[in-house]
Amino acid sequence: MRQEGWRQYKESLKYLASGSSTSSKIPIYENIEPPLIVKGKGCRVWDVDGNEYIDFRNALGPVSIGYSIDQINSQIKEQLDNGIIFGHPSPIEGEVAKLLVENIPCAEKVRFLKTGGEAISACIKIARAFTGKNKIVHCGYNGWLNNLALGEGMPPGISKSQPLRGVPQQISSLHFTLPWAVIERWIKLFEKEGNDIAAVVVASAYQDMEKGEDFLPQVRELTRRYDSLMIMDEIVTGFRLAIGGAHQYFNFLPDMAVFGKAMANGMPISAYLGKSELIELAREIGISSTFGGETLSLASAKATIRFYTENEVTSHLWQMGNLLKDGINEIFKRYNFPCELKGFGPCPQFVFKDDLMKDRFFQGCYRNGVSFYHVVYVNYSHKEKDIEETLERVEETIRELKDEDAR
Ligand SMILES: Cc1ncc(COP(=O)(O)O)c(C=O)c1O
Repeated sequence: MRQEGWRQYKESLKYLASGSSTSSKIPIYENIEPPLIVKGKGCRVWDVDGNEYIDFRNALGPVSIGYSIDQINSQIKEQLDNGIIFGHPSPIEGEVAKLLVENIPCAEKVRFLKTGGEAISACIKIARAFTGKNKIVHCGYNGWLNNLALGEGMPPGISKSQPLRGVPQQISSLHFTLPWAVIERWIKLFEKEGNDIAAVVVASAYQDMEKGEDFLPQVRELTRRYDSLMIMDEIVTGFRLAIGGAHQYFNFLPDMAVFGKAMANGMPISAYLGKSELIELAREIGISSTFGGETLSLASAKATIRFYTENEVTSHLWQMGNLLKDGINEIFKRYNFPCELKGFGPCPQFVFKDDLMKDRFFQGCYRNGVSFYHVVYVNYSHKEKDIEETLERVEETIRELKDEDAR
């Protein structure tokens, strides 16, 4: 039963445009999907009507250790008692910067903002100022602020065949998008535009992330050849593949990188970091934000980074993610269901052969108490028994769909 949730959600539509400030969170399956969530604990969430779900949406990435974790909450509360934000920096800002420098390979200096897109914009501005060049190449979604050219990586719900609205042509002519792991396309663009390219911003593609092994060092090499900078978008991969994200996992050094989502277990904070001479430019060229040093998020980031290093969180995410991925793919195969969960365990993606099957699968999973997103995010609170329970519920869903089809 999800009637009360849907009633409240529909009421909110009178005031809240589209019912959510995050487009990917807007519920689509009426009376089946939970439209509003009121509580989370560990790896589970509860909707307005009291239904419980094993959750793999995890706020679309940020909840990396779990919902409402005592060790993290206590640090946030302790900081809250001392004040949220001040007119001078708090010591915790420098402490978290130090922890990031110690744990992230490309980080020599760090600065904080609130969202991933904003931090990527900061790196783009730095890259333009440093190189004196204007053109930017994007790979994947780099946040709504940076969606300035048609092509790959459109914001949620926008198709790449739609015209780009709200961006003057003079701006979009400076931005290109290129696909993941098709290096020939990158070489071709650089041959034509390389002398004007200030930077590339690369987000790793979920469903064939393993291609990063060859592709990312090739892009690194290409940017060096043309005196362009390489900015790694580690918003999803950071604190998942490794604390330092894809550049740590694949063992190469970009000039700058951006972290957000998982680094504070759900509190809103992002970091842009990299070579000292680049990040030091931020002040000089006017990158600054009132809430950059807000201490509750920093307290959460500090507790989260400590928790990661003390508990080997990323290896747990790999283990649980792979267990889930292999288990689901085995079920899909056994029942001849036209879908595969592809990519790396910490953030794999469902790849469906048709949209109808996708809708029926997600709806069936909601009915059976599993909340999925097209990217599957495990957190540290998913333990083996939660994964086993999920696999039982997924198998039940597939069996129900097969029975419906047989009728
Ligand atoms: C790879 C990637 N980069 C950047 C962003 C933008 O981050 P934010 O929504 O915090 O601005 C996202 C958000 O989903 C993302 O997935």
